[in-house]
Amino acid sequence: MASKALDVPAVALGTWAWGDSGEAGDGYFGSRLSESGLREVVEKAQSNGLTLWDTAVVYGMGRSESVLAQALAGYDRSEYQLSTKFTPQIAGDGGDPVADMLGQSLDRMGTDYVDLFWIHNPADVARWTPPLIPLLRSGAIRHVGVSNHNMEEIALADRILGEAGFRVEAVQNHFSLLYRSSERAGILDHCREHDVRFFSYMVLEQGALTGRYSPAHPLPEGSSRAAVYNGMLPQLQALTERMGAIGEVRGASAADVATAWAIAKGTTPIVGVTKAGHIDGLVRARGIELAGEEIAELEALADAADVDTRGFWEQGM
Ligand SMILES: NC(=O)c1ccc[n+]([C@@H]2O[C@H](COP(=O)([O-])OP(=O)(O)OC[C@H]3O[C@@H](n4cnc5c(N)ncnc54)[C@H](OP(=O)(O)O)[C@@H]3O)[C@@H](O)[C@H]2O)c1
Repeated sequence: MASKALDVPAVALGTWAWGDSGEAGDGYFGSRLSESGLREVVEKAQSNGLTLWDTAVVYGMGRSESVLAQALAGYDRSEYQLSTKFTPQIAGDGGDPVADMLGQSLDRMGTDYVDLFWIHNPADVARWTPPLIPLLRSGAIRHVGVSNHNMEEIALADRILGEAGFRVEAVQNHFSLLYRSSERAGILDHCREHDVRFFSYMVLEQGALTGRYSPAHPLPEGSSRAAVYNGMLPQLQALTERMGAIGEVRGASAADVATAWAIAKGTTPIVGVTKAGHIDGLVRARGIELAGEEIAELEALADAADVDTRGFWEQGM
């Protein structure tokens, strides 16, 4: 089935933390999210043209997908785009684990297609890419992306899809001021040159780059993100203070500056929104133009912080 070109807003919305909501409790993020609060996030985002929602089976083992669908209830399917993932590491042992996992996601989200379907973490690219082809042909998936794949893996997936007349249209990697491995590895340049959309995830480093958290006010105790980031917060202060100052003269926050930086680098940030107020920040970020010197200064401060924020699921690029 022929599909229209991938067309996405300047910022996508991430829902990993939404997997912690409801009876699943306050797990990875230590956030307390309610159904009504997430509905408010959806309404504000949708009315501001932020209509691309990124989720994955592994975000709360289906919980994020279900909660997202619930929060989007009442909107016409054409008014929003869904992005979810096949995670090879939890593939079932049936005849077609990719179609099976997609089918379960579609059931949870109450739809018959996803706009953007990702191979989440690379496992065996030659094994897991071909099963996407019939799903593209049937229209069950409209566009394919690969996440956490290095250059070689991106090229192999693209070659396999290319033989069937499709292609890798998007790449989704960790990319923030503190974590620029995709830029150093040439993946950003590759995407720009080949018209592949690069989605940057964790541009806020799960809250550590928002300016809201500091050694005196750390990330929620007991959460997984606190275990990763709280020890780094003293080293991040010079950077977050400068981001705050750059934001202040524009009526924006440090978080808005982090997002604006990712846009300035030619990427589409996927920001993990948990509160309606975060949408106001994204709207501001969309309008911020950082000067070249500001970008250079922020990157120098980020390098000086000398922290390693690579996720436990990520490989070196
Ligand atoms: N493909 C992959 O392997 C992969 C891996 C990681 C993430 N992702 C995707 O990328 C998305 C983003 O990553 P993430 O959610 O892990 O982390 P993130 O976007 O770096 O940070 C999210 C946290 O930042 C805070 N926040 C969000 N917007 C804010 C704003 N405007 N102002 C101030 N604070 C704000 C919230 O913390 P509080 O709730 O404490 O306020 C939120 O939980 C995920 O949701 C997921 O969709 C993909």
